[in-house]
Amino acid sequence: MKTGIDSIAFSTSKYSLNLDVLAKKRNVAREKYYLGIGQTKMSIFPPNEDIVTVAIDAARKVLAQIEDKNDVDMLIFATESSFDLSKSAGIYVHKFLKLRDDCRVFDVKQACYSAAAALQLARFYVKDNPNSKVLVIGSDIIRYLPETSGEPTQGGAAVAFIVSKNPRILEVEPCFGVHTVDVADFWRPVCLKEALFDGKLSAYNYLRSLDICTKRYFEKSGFSSDDIDHVCFHAPFGKMARKANNQSFNSKTIEETLVYNSLIGNSCSASLFISFISLADNFGGDLTGSRIGFFSYGSGSVAEFFCGVISENYKKMLTADDNKIMLEEREDISFEEYESLYKEEFCDFRAYKNIGSVTLSGVDNNKRVYGNIEKCENSFAGF
Ligand code: CAA
Repeated sequence: MKTGIDSIAFSTSKYSLNLDVLAKKRNVAREKYYLGIGQTKMSIFPPNEDIVTVAIDAARKVLAQIEDKNDVDMLIFATESSFDLSKSAGIYVHKFLKLRDDCRVFDVKQACYSAAAALQLARFYVKDNPNSKVLVIGSDIIRYLPETSGEPTQGGAAVAFIVSKNPRILEVEPCFGVHTVDVADFWRPVCLKEALFDGKLSAYNYLRSLDICTKRYFEKSGFSSDDIDHVCFHAPFGKMARKANNQSFNSKTIEETLVYNSLIGNSCSASLFISFISLADNFGGDLTGSRIGFFSYGSGSVAEFFCGVISENYKKMLTADDNKIMLEEREDISFEEYESLYKEEFCDFRAYKNIGSVTLSGVDNNKRVYGNIEKCENSFAGF
């Protein structure tokens, strides 16, 4: 039975910081960010948005593409930026999407790798339950301390996709190459909102893991890099994906995969799948029948390489115009606004726009309170 991605969508904040602005303030040449790191903007989240609200927006888009949302009997929420060590973020999403109450809901975590793990788990589940559909969500907002080398690679977004039999976008093939090793390259202690990292070690281990995973994959599958038409990478920043491509895939063209992530920044669990949406939306020709490689890397670390084949008529499932409009319509904020949001100095939950129709309206006695909103045209009133 063919299993894989039947519909897919992403969502991000209404606000972004142009890295030109950050470069000027940090006394760094803009070329370092634009060319050396390969990023031009990063999404910045206001206090009324979090991994749940942006996930609901992405998930609503994919549910609109299936006939009956009651076919969804499992929701896996992949994140490394959870705000609760106990309750699953997926439960809030389940409520606002009005999914059936015998739907299994749980979160998974392994840094940026977790949504790839969720995709594989979902496929195994569908093989046993062919009429089921699984909603997989990867949602992360990543923060580093100001004035660290990681600062220009912050960002955030959510991706949502439905895993089912006879998928209309991508049939995921059964072969995979996995590598797990204990490495202290990136971590976030529970007391911190900002991730800590050893940048050079993380880049080294990303490339080493890619080498091991692809060798394992090629050995098992009997394929070589010539059998793969395009490769999508986890993209913590564009240059990392370009280096990975040069190392392992004879420098195939990957520029179409990086269009969206270069404007969003690192979205961790969502990043690999946003690379895929970016390829599908921005590739000039027809991808039908193409074999796409996927490399997922989650610091700490677990990595996986696998492939999928693009389904006939996949183009009917794309929402390229909407995706481009969503990114174009974001508001660029000033450096002062960025600093203020970072320090959480200005916490009027009603002063900012939401990307979707659910908002975080406050935190009461450590309980997060979400509500439906009318799509409002309120201004960035805080500044
Ligand atoms: N014009 C053009 N390029 C310039 C330049 C200029 N004026 N000045 C510098 N550069 C280039 C450098 O030559 C370098 O290019 P190469 O990598 O090709 O040599 C590049 O800009 C970066 O410069 P530095 O080597 O000085 O790097 P840095 O100290 O500023 O740190 C970083 C860069 C390591 C990516 C840092 O942003 C970081 O640590 N980020 C967080 C960790 C991370 O994202 N790791 C990725 C792998 S881990 C992972 O994938 C999981 C995850 O999501 C976190």
